[in-house]
Amino acid sequence: MTFAQPIKLDTAHFDNQARQWDDNPLFHERGLKIAQAIRHAVPLRREMHALDYGCGTGLLSFPLKDELGTIVLADSSSGMLDVVAEKIAAQAVTNMTPMKLDLLVAPSLAQKFDLIITSMTLHHVPETDQILEIFHDLLNPGGYLCIADLEQEDGSFHGLEVDVHHGFDRDDLSRRAAQAGFSKPQFQTVFSITKERPSGTQDYPVFLMTARRTDA
Ligand SMILES: C[S@@+](CC[C@H](N)C(=O)[O-])C[C@H]1O[C@@H](n2cnc3c(N)ncnc32)[C@H](O)[C@@H]1O
Repeated sequence: MTFAQPIKLDTAHFDNQARQWDDNPLFHERGLKIAQAIRHAVPLRREMHALDYGCGTGLLSFPLKDELGTIVLADSSSGMLDVVAEKIAAQAVTNMTPMKLDLLVAPSLAQKFDLIITSMTLHHVPETDQILEIFHDLLNPGGYLCIADLEQEDGSFHGLEVDVHHGFDRDDLSRRAAQAGFSKPQFQTVFSITKERPSGTQDYPVFLMTARRTDA
């Protein structure tokens, strides 16, 4: 019996999506809702240095830019980063910097952050434990990690043939975050994505997990 090869959503996939990404009003609404939840969960300050990992076109960071000091917008897709750079130039933003980065390939940076935010990216990163440990290393003590992603789902969000995590179980992610050194992960539901399926509509809730690096 032969099995179809799993489909990888690689960098080329996101490069191809980049120019149309901001045409989707749902992506804008999702970014705004997650930003709002982060605002309520974290005491944002103008002194904070933040990393938006898997930033895409920056739909999460742009709504937060006036409440933070500096933001590094990191992504492995040059196509996404080209759009980010154009938006930064068009709006004359002075506190945001695009950076091509895959932390699983190059895990260390010459800078530390007070806040790491990431939206709908963790399910594309194969090594959850590794990325949580890297996030921990990149945060200053007391720094905040905010992960927005899909609740555990049945694989139908992308299709079973696509090689991604099928969302995350809250208890499991909480345990992994604690193992990586984070304390007190808190969860809330911040958004829901509805898709039409042959069996009817299906909702895919999105959570925000907030945790802190509390060691000295
Ligand atoms: C579903 S998109 C989300 C984009 C954006 N955060 C948003 O909410 O609109 C996932 C993003 O993660 C990026 N990505 C996937 N794997 C990555 C990795 N290992 N390192 C950095 N970025 C990655 C993709 O290029 C893409 O821009």
